Amino acid sequence: MNIAIASDHGGFELKQQLIEHFAAKGQILEDLGTCSTDSCDYPDIAKKMAKNILNHQNELGILICGTGIGISIAANRFKGIRAAVLYDDFTAEMTKKHNNANVLVFGGRTMKFEDVIRRIEIFNNTEFEGGRHATRIAKIEEGVE
Ligand code: RB5
Repeated sequence: MNIAIASDHGGFELKQQLIEHFAAKGQILEDLGTCSTDSCDYPDIAKKMAKNILNHQNELGILICGTGIGISIAANRFKGIRAAVLYDDFTAEMTKKHNNANVLVFGGRTMKFEDVIRRIEIFNNTEFEGGRHATRIAKIEEGVE
């Protein structure tokens, strides 16, 4: 699976750790920035990721900010993006089974590297159940006024 990764300054360190971890296993993540710990605006990063996923450049995105909250709110403003903060292992499983998220979100200042790795693995090793959950996702895509 092709995966893109991006963060603001609050998630930069964790992003670099994840890139190294996946590279050691032979998977190159597409790095959409940011490129340093200099302060930047997470909505800009979320937008870059949303465009990348919606244009089918990558199948899955990983976004990181300080808490995971701001960047997930921003990413979910884009129709077709289902960004979810994987705050525990059960959520990681259900986020695939029921929500079929296309962007996984983490907090660089709130989560441990090992936990993040494990949650990505759980998500990737779980199947979307479809059925009623596909119907619900379609309702999300219909949008609201
Ligand atoms: C940046 O300081 C911080 O606000 C950002 O990384 C994120 O945590 C926002 O939700």
